[in-house]
Amino acid sequence: MFSKRIKVKELLQLTPNEQEVTVMGWVRTFRNNQFIALNDGSTNNNIQIVVALGLLDDATLKRITTGAAIKVIGNVIPSVGKGQSLEIKANSIEILGDSDAEKYPLQPKKHSLEFLREIAHLRFRTNTFGAVFRIRHALTFAIHQFFNDKGFLNIHTPIITASDAEGAGETFRVTTLPIDGTAPRNADGSINFNEDFFGKSTNLTVSGQLEGELAATAFGNIYTFGPTFRAENSNTTRHLAEFWMIEPEMAFYDIEDNMDLAEEFIQYIISYVMEHNKEDLTFLDARLAEEEKQKPQNERQEFGLIEKLKFVVENKFERITYTQAIDILLNSPAYKKKKFKYDVKWGIDMQSEHERYLVEKHFKKPVIVSNYPAAIKAFYMRLNDGEEAGKETVAAMDILAPGIGEIVGGSQREERYDVLLKRMQQFNIPLQEMNWYLDSRRFGTVPHAGFGLGFERMVQFVTGMTNIRDVIPFARTPKNCEF
Ligand code: 4AD
Ligand code: MG
Repeated sequence: MFSKRIKVKELLQLTPNEQEVTVMGWVRTFRNNQFIALNDGSTNNNIQIVVALGLLDDATLKRITTGAAIKVIGNVIPSVGKGQSLEIKANSIEILGDSDAEKYPLQPKKHSLEFLREIAHLRFRTNTFGAVFRIRHALTFAIHQFFNDKGFLNIHTPIITASDAEGAGETFRVTTLPIDGTAPRNADGSINFNEDFFGKSTNLTVSGQLEGELAATAFGNIYTFGPTFRAENSNTTRHLAEFWMIEPEMAFYDIEDNMDLAEEFIQYIISYVMEHNKEDLTFLDARLAEEEKQKPQNERQEFGLIEKLKFVVENKFERITYTQAIDILLNSPAYKKKKFKYDVKWGIDMQSEHERYLVEKHFKKPVIVSNYPAAIKAFYMRLNDGEEAGKETVAAMDILAPGIGEIVGGSQREERYDVLLKRMQQFNIPLQEMNWYLDSRRFGTVPHAGFGLGFERMVQFVTGMTNIRDVIPFARTPKNCEF
């Protein structure tokens, strides 16, 4: 019986001719005991239900409150009211779930994003989050479509691992050992992980790349799309402790191929949303414009949301080397006027203020920066040949996006066994533990490359949401793990 309902999105496409339909959803507002605005999450548009005088008794009318779930059977008729072409003349209304109007936190008015974060369990029911999460879904679908069309295999890499792929040591430990001080110890006093669940020290994955590389050296082209976890204590609008990442890995690829794929990929998924989510994008475009109006003139963004996306899809990304990026920064008015908080010189790990200067002020478009100093990048990146001591670079590439900063990090991988071994030793990577990874270089090694796209940062870019906590259903950040 429930499967007979028509979704509001589909309903709004009908030509009204008194056909009978069943709709179900949640009441947004109820005016004059007569007009219900009903939403079922299929679109931000509500369907207006007209309740004729005398159809319902007083007790039932009182239960039609904001947030209540109802079932309506009625006829589709043209609407004389403003803002909609059709409405439903109700024949029967059943209350499926009451909602105490006094206690319901989501009142029919504008709430701040901060407040909505505290009631994240209910914010799906707002227009903003409706639009954001429908777009998040569309992006997920577009990502799988893009890679599937290209013949990439989706590989599920493990979530619990014994390695720290990025070598940055920012992992969440996984253990079943007691934490009250009674865990088994070795002779030297350290914890004896032989006694732990997996018989070794384990953590949540920070990246599926290393396992992805193994699959790429058999299937050619693969991608992962999974949750990753980082215990970095960064309380910013761009960092989550649990985020989703897409990591394609391609055999027989060099860094140029890698950049081409990343650019095509980003443009494809944005185009997909522009084509399939027009309504939600238009809503978010207007929302952002409203938010921008609150800012002082000089802080406002030049482009509207849709305008920005159109620009990114239609124009090639800028490509520069790290060395060129540093030169641009050193010659910038911002540097000369000492506007940067952090120092600029060759060898630095660029701070977000530097990245934002490059994309937002200098190039005003996405920028791919390549060939970073070897010392600041991960051990697996391919060492560029013939460079003077102290100036060694790796075939890394980061994509920086306006308003977001780093959205993609990737590289050509070090496929030469001897060079990789040396790099792992330099970085103190436990060789015994990583023997399986070295095997990929021992047996049929090939030039290969890959990258990681931070999914939430991508959703931020497409929806124009300023805080990353507002593009994932339930954000995990330092000191915050609600719901
Ligand atoms: O640059 P990262 O650390 O690269 C890797 O993990 C590589 N293994 C990827 C690869 O080559 N296969 O992370 C990749 C992307 C970043 O560019 C950023 O968009 C996102 O992941 N990211 C985060 N997003 C949200 N919260 C965090 N704490 C993030 N850390 C990285
Ligand atoms: Mg990175």
